[in-house]
Amino acid sequence: MTYTDISAILSDGKSYVGKTVDVAGWVRSARDSKNMAFLNINDGTSLKHLQIVINKAEFEGDAAAFMKNGASVAVSGEAVPAMKEGEVEINAHSVTLLGDCPTDYPLQKKYHTMEFLRTIPELRPRTNTFNAMLRVRSKLSFAIHRFFQGEGFTYVHTPIITGSDCEGAGEIFRVTTNTYQDALAAGDEQKYTASDFFGRKAGLTVSGQLEGEVAAMAMGKIYTFGPTFRAENSNTPRHAAEFWQVEPEVAFAKLPDIIKIAERMIKYIIKAVLDECPDELAFFEKSFESGLRAKLQSVVDSEFVVLEYSDAIDILKKSGVKFQYPVEWGLDMQSEHERYITEQVFNKPVFVVNYPKAIKSFYMKQNDDGVTVAATDLLVPGVGEIIGCSEREADYDKLLKAMNDRHMNLDDYRGYLNLRKYGSVPHSGFGLGLERILMYVTGINNIRDVQLYARTAGDLM
Ligand code: 4AD
Ligand code: MG
Repeated sequence: MTYTDISAILSDGKSYVGKTVDVAGWVRSARDSKNMAFLNINDGTSLKHLQIVINKAEFEGDAAAFMKNGASVAVSGEAVPAMKEGEVEINAHSVTLLGDCPTDYPLQKKYHTMEFLRTIPELRPRTNTFNAMLRVRSKLSFAIHRFFQGEGFTYVHTPIITGSDCEGAGEIFRVTTNTYQDALAAGDEQKYTASDFFGRKAGLTVSGQLEGEVAAMAMGKIYTFGPTFRAENSNTPRHAAEFWQVEPEVAFAKLPDIIKIAERMIKYIIKAVLDECPDELAFFEKSFESGLRAKLQSVVDSEFVVLEYSDAIDILKKSGVKFQYPVEWGLDMQSEHERYITEQVFNKPVFVVNYPKAIKSFYMKQNDDGVTVAATDLLVPGVGEIIGCSEREADYDKLLKAMNDRHMNLDDYRGYLNLRKYGSVPHSGFGLGLERILMYVTGINNIRDVQLYARTAGDLM
């Protein structure tokens, strides 16, 4: 049996009127009156529900059996015009209960806090919020692919298990098949590591960049798009231990070139969501962030700001605001600073460029001033950093020195260094956090609520 998508019926009601349709879904609400019963059902294909009307007099069987939130039903009936102009509902001929649902179903028709919903990850996708979020997430992801495919990029799949630490921040989740007993038997760390699955330390990738560079040094323009992992213990609404990143890497591109690509991509994917998710955005505007659509439209229409890091520091110093972290040149900007710049000063996306090299990663191109690197973060109102970006150090000796300064284990990066030895070229790339842009686009203000399963420290449901 194939059922018609509810989204198809709701979006093109007229062409269904008078026809018999078969639909299936979960009951979102039920209302009983003397002669009639009404079910609102949702099959996940749209945010809106489809109303099923049961005329008790003509209906064989007990309508009460279906009048249960959470129950799953299949309905056969005739599409008829609804009260609201242009909409349709279904006059049921028959309703089949596919799966009953007891009255302790946690999603009753009332307001549930996001915190409560986190305790039932297996059911929260059946709320309007998650229904809308998951659809926007899907559309956003597909738009990202469309953008890069349209610009001639090759999609590469970089490894999830790696032996290197791209960001050098020591936030790697170890991957091991060793047991506690193995550790005791080995006695020292070297033996323990040597006896492990790969014979060396392995971990989950924090970023596909290093391997992405390998691909770009052959394919020119590539992007990788997949899960990345960080054992971040910072308990903030913007940090997850598992999150998705899209990471383009472009040969022969310098910092201003990659900034242009990033700006084009952000505008493209936001426009896609505006075009493809009108119901969802209306819902988020009503429930999460007033003015959401105007904000997104203005991003599409505006030119992003490019601001020197040093100028950002001056602005912060002159602001008269008392920040928790005092402002000095060299400061690794915290969320309070990022938000001041992008919300109070510009109220639009801002690329902060040329950061002090001491607070940034080893692979970034060192500027001629000797103290900054050709790196940029894209900051947006409400969320802060959504993109980390840089031109890469293409000079073998400079890169080697930066790695030695950081006491990195060169054995783990031999291949990466080789790229600078054999036909090195200027190249640049960035990483966009999918959950961060999703938070920005939906107004949902906690990263735990833009993932199917939240992944944060101390919490593995
Ligand atoms: O700024 P980050 O650490 O940059 C990199 O990883 C580079 N290797 C990317 C590149 O150049 N290819 O991370 C990039 C983005 C951040 O701007 C943020 O949007 C997101 O990834 N991100 C996180 N999102 C959720 N939870 C976390 N713990 C995140 N850490 C970074
Ligand atoms: Mg960053």
